[in-house]
Amino acid sequence: MKILLTGKDGQVGFALHKKLLSLGKVVATNRHELDLASPDRIKDFVDKIKPDIIINPAAYTQVDKAESEKSLAHQINAIAPQVLAEKASELNIPIIHFSTDYVFDGLKKEPYLETDQANPQSVYGQTKWEGEEEVRQYKKHIILRTSWVFSSHGQNFLKTILTLIQEKTSLNVVIDQIGAPTSSGALADVTYKIVKAILNNPNFKDFGTYHVTSVGDTDWFRYACFIVDEAIRLGLKTTMTSKDIKPISSDLYPTLAKRPFNSRLVTDKITKTFMLELSNWEEEVKRALKEIIH
Ligand SMILES: NC(=O)c1ccc[n+]([C@@H]2O[C@H](COP(=O)([O-])OP(=O)(O)OC[C@H]3O[C@@H](n4cnc5c(N)ncnc54)[C@H](OP(=O)(O)O)[C@@H]3O)[C@@H](O)[C@H]2O)c1
Repeated sequence: MKILLTGKDGQVGFALHKKLLSLGKVVATNRHELDLASPDRIKDFVDKIKPDIIINPAAYTQVDKAESEKSLAHQINAIAPQVLAEKASELNIPIIHFSTDYVFDGLKKEPYLETDQANPQSVYGQTKWEGEEEVRQYKKHIILRTSWVFSSHGQNFLKTILTLIQEKTSLNVVIDQIGAPTSSGALADVTYKIVKAILNNPNFKDFGTYHVTSVGDTDWFRYACFIVDEAIRLGLKTTMTSKDIKPISSDLYPTLAKRPFNSRLVTDKITKTFMLELSNWEEEVKRALKEIIH
């Protein structure tokens, strides 16, 4: 059993690498070992490795920078998944690809279903949507759409807040965008179960697009307050407390790329299909903070 994994140094790729090792040989790559901006390099690499499954968490994830690097974002988020899916099709092997809540415009009042209309509002969201559509051309695909990923490894909101509360005496954080913080570890656990389900069943039929996030939701302001309270409880020496965080609306914090106001995703399809229990985001955040602070 040989797994080709991209983005091994990213948040999700790093967690997946550790988790998947028990399933067989994992050929895990970073951008130096497999540059996803080069379709020819991808083709040659897959031909050489001959994997039994491809897992692609790598992506161009710099949401604001993507607005001025459209072509590179398109290359990595749309063309690379297309080439990987084509190679998967040639080899008749499954592909698991990751995507994002940013494919939606965030205007729906309720959490998004897999079947809801995509309407990306940013270059990142648009290129991720195009990547999804390319992967969907090939039947044996699983697309995992997630939101607000955090991890003790890599760069994310949680780690930014931890840095800022050791330097600053006050912070402004937006309160009008809601979603579910989701740990890379939880995503690795879910992916592991899906890989096992596919491998254990030659007649596996449940390919398709799934939403997967931690349970519960919050906004960035309350998420930041939770991080600060918990970090202080764990003994982190800070220059401020959660009382020094001020909630602001998105229009007071302009960014190059537009973010969805509503990032909530319904996860019933994945939990029912794969009989999964997803954990609560607060528990996952506490776990990550313990790893970082202790
Ligand atoms: N982060 C979030 O909040 C979030 C939310 C929803 C969905 N997602 C999706 O979840 C997946 C995993 O995200 P993540 O948070 O783990 O992202 P991440 O930490 O930014 O990691 C992305 C990885 O992609 C790699 N990559 C970028 N350009 C590449 C290239 N040209 N060739 C090869 N590899 C390249 C990066 O390599 P380097 O390490 O060399 O830079 C990095 O390891 C992505 O599909 C993302 O769109 C993420």
